[in-house]
Amino acid sequence: MGGHHAYEKLTNCLKTVREKTDFTPKVAIVLGSGLGDYAEQIRVETELPYHEIAGFPVSTVPGHAGKFIFGYIDNIPVVCMKGRVHYYEGYDISDVVLPVRLMRMLGAEILFLTNAAGGVNNSFHAGDLMLIKDHLAMFAPNPLIGPNIEELGTRFPDMSAVYDRELQQIIKNKAAENGIYLQEGVYAQLTGPSYESPADVRALRMLGCDAVGMSTVVEAIAARHCGMRVCGISCISNLAAGMSAEPLNHKEVQEAADMAAPRFKKLVTESVKEF
Ligand code: HPA
Repeated sequence: MGGHHAYEKLTNCLKTVREKTDFTPKVAIVLGSGLGDYAEQIRVETELPYHEIAGFPVSTVPGHAGKFIFGYIDNIPVVCMKGRVHYYEGYDISDVVLPVRLMRMLGAEILFLTNAAGGVNNSFHAGDLMLIKDHLAMFAPNPLIGPNIEELGTRFPDMSAVYDRELQQIIKNKAAENGIYLQEGVYAQLTGPSYESPADVRALRMLGCDAVGMSTVVEAIAARHCGMRVCGISCISNLAAGMSAEPLNHKEVQEAADMAAPRFKKLVTESVKEF
């Protein structure tokens, strides 16, 4: 469901949010696995559970239950998404990116994406953080398919610099200043929900992929379409399939992400202060 319907849904969601808060965020932050308790870092003004917004996609994954958190990091007004929906849950791709578009309509100019990802680059280790320099979008459905929403952006948006150079530099500086080791690389979004096969992972590596996950790229595309500046960090929660002796399981992915959480939170917070 793209186009006019999607825009009508968005304006309805906007109306509901505006009945509850007049907060105008500058930065929108999507919290991936491992950043679930990030709200501790925020001077919270108000929270809004997703299920209170008619038409808003609500996650079905354990540990992803969702709400918007509105508040301040230092003096920067932010909106955080605690929990996001994934395409593999069965939502239409336009619903997967609805929250990003809604945050834009609330006033957010910058989108900070975070996720847990499998390391594809042979030099990565579980627990590493990776600055997203670029992405591979061709394995996920394009979120802009359908009639173009002219109110948001152009039909054929440029994607030659999805991840904002200036924001990347701030994140790199903050990592260095805080002694946080930061890898850099290309993130690929596959649909999931099954993890990759070892052959998938070898193919991704040959294509220039450094990390693989099930989110982020479609959100980045929708954000660029509607004129947001975008940046992102992956937490490498595991080496991708076939790279270690162990099979992958969601619980271990979650636990590894939790272990990296203190560094992850510090880097996000210190960076946003400079945005
Ligand atoms: N593959 C895909 N998505 C993931 C992985 C992975 O290995 N780890 C965390 N999210």
